Amino acid sequence: MGGYPWGDKRDAGPLKRRELSMTDLYSNAQSAADYIRAATDLTPHIGIILGSGLGNFANHVRGATRIPYADMQGRVHAYEGYPLSEVTFPTRVLGLIGCKTLIVTNAAGGVNPSYKQGSLVAISDHINLTGTNAALGPNEPRFAAIPGAGQRFFDMSTAYSPRLRALAVEEAARQGFQLSEGVYLAVLGPSFETPAEIRAFRTLGADLVGMSTVHETIVARHMGLEVLGISLVTNPAAGVVAAGQQTAETIHHEDVMEVGRRTEKQFTSLLTALIPQIAAINS
Ligand code: HPA
Repeated sequence: MGGYPWGDKRDAGPLKRRELSMTDLYSNAQSAADYIRAATDLTPHIGIILGSGLGNFANHVRGATRIPYADMQGRVHAYEGYPLSEVTFPTRVLGLIGCKTLIVTNAAGGVNPSYKQGSLVAISDHINLTGTNAALGPNEPRFAAIPGAGQRFFDMSTAYSPRLRALAVEEAARQGFQLSEGVYLAVLGPSFETPAEIRAFRTLGADLVGMSTVHETIVARHMGLEVLGISLVTNPAAGVVAAGQQTAETIHHEDVMEVGRRTEKQFTSLLTALIPQIAAINS
């Protein structure tokens, strides 16, 4: 197949694909950025990556230019066997087309027992237990989206922007709900965790567990983008007895998607209100 300058993710099974070199990743991401620039006169400032069950937000965008993701909506995950260069490719492209902010969203298990199913949580920090890092390999400084970014070693001490989090928490309160803040721990997946793993993760300081996001945040910070992370708690993590329940439940992917659909309205109204506020603080 093929037909797109950056290749086509359908042309080989994901497990047969190899990690791209940083130079090839950069030139493919530039080609995709050029393709997007040619398809629209809009200049994006805020990139949004929609997690499982939250993809419908894209249908609320007015005046959109749509570029299908087969050509490019839909995240590919490391647990599907894709190399991290492909998992983080959309984030790289968003940085190259001019985004200065990345909003990254996901479905997550609630490790913190106080989280109710269907609640939204602002990610305050992450623990990357996937065993790998999307910035691995020779550094590519041309990915810098702001002066001083694109360094070999880069700071992750405020990976999830405190000021964007504060905006999100304030906006949620204005809309009548509480947006908690919590630490997101990433595993590779695709298996859900065991109860023993979740107990260990709780001891490590995790509030949320999931299989995405950290790689996108890492490359976004490498480029100098400001990151807002929002998790939707679709289920209590394995072995966690949720508030009001007697026993822990087993986890099903269908439930994860269903909770996403049910919470969509709250998620959409939070994001819709936040976008102009983020745009305003950056202009
Ligand atoms: N674990 C990992 N990833 C998830 C979960 C979970 O419990 N729920 C939604 N994504």
